[in-house]
Amino acid sequence: MTEIIDGNEIADRIKTELEVCVETLADHGVTPGLATVLMSDDSASETYVNMKQRACEEIGIEGRHHELDPETSSDTLEGRIEALNENPAVHGILVQMPVPDHVDEQTILERIDPMKDVDGFHPENVGKLVTGDPRLKPCTPHGIQRLLAETGVGTTGKDVVVVGRSNIVGKPMMNLLVQKDDLGNATVTTCHSRTDNLAEKTRNADIVIAAAGVPELIDGSMLSEDTVVIDVGVNRVDAADGEGYELVGDVEFESAVEQANAITPVPGGVGPLTIAMLLYNTVKAASLQEN
Ligand code: GUN
Repeated sequence: MTEIIDGNEIADRIKTELEVCVETLADHGVTPGLATVLMSDDSASETYVNMKQRACEEIGIEGRHHELDPETSSDTLEGRIEALNENPAVHGILVQMPVPDHVDEQTILERIDPMKDVDGFHPENVGKLVTGDPRLKPCTPHGIQRLLAETGVGTTGKDVVVVGRSNIVGKPMMNLLVQKDDLGNATVTTCHSRTDNLAEKTRNADIVIAAAGVPELIDGSMLSEDTVVIDVGVNRVDAADGEGYELVGDVEFESAVEQANAITPVPGGVGPLTIAMLLYNTVKAASLQEN
């Protein structure tokens, strides 16, 4: 029987651990604070930020949400980030991506104080990760590492195929998995839209991490019966009945679940871990700044 991995259950375990850390910080007079910034009308981005704020509330992190009109200038956004950098009650800053076209994403990421960069996207944190001294790890790949550890799959010695090379998931995933530690020690192949013979590579993998942003790119015929499949995709596609839309992953669940050893569903797989690791980074950032 293929195991369907319950991301919510693992995320709840992590949140329970974090609640204890938040209480310890409270004993020292510190309340971790997370500022989220949304500069978009996109309803999916709005939903994600709301979920992040709600999760903060659940475990005692003080959330502050900032919404900017999508027409706002880059200078204004950068000024807002500067103010948050200077605010000692704010330990973590997250600017929800994507930002509008007139704003340069990389410029914005570089304005965030690296000690408050709870996404782990600042070049200083990317560099620290690549050189084997990670500080704040990107949330989705770190969440996937925890998920693989908590389900007993593990990564040491495993052949892992990462499909996708984004700065948010694919590249940090590859870098985390080759780290010399218990959540790493894997042999990693990174595939992307220009990869030849993708099916051959995924079929030979112990673990496939699908993060290409392409609806149902990976199907059961591309997997072996021993493969553990981690589906990072959250794609909106037109609903089969023509009414509205539905969410599908980068994996065609119906055929993959017939074939693979274990699989994460969409929703309810990786998503809850991303949020749990954002809380983890906020608590860690608060500890680093207050010590
Ligand atoms: N947009 C999609 N995923 C993410 C993420 O992990 N962090 C931020 N800041 N924006 C995103």
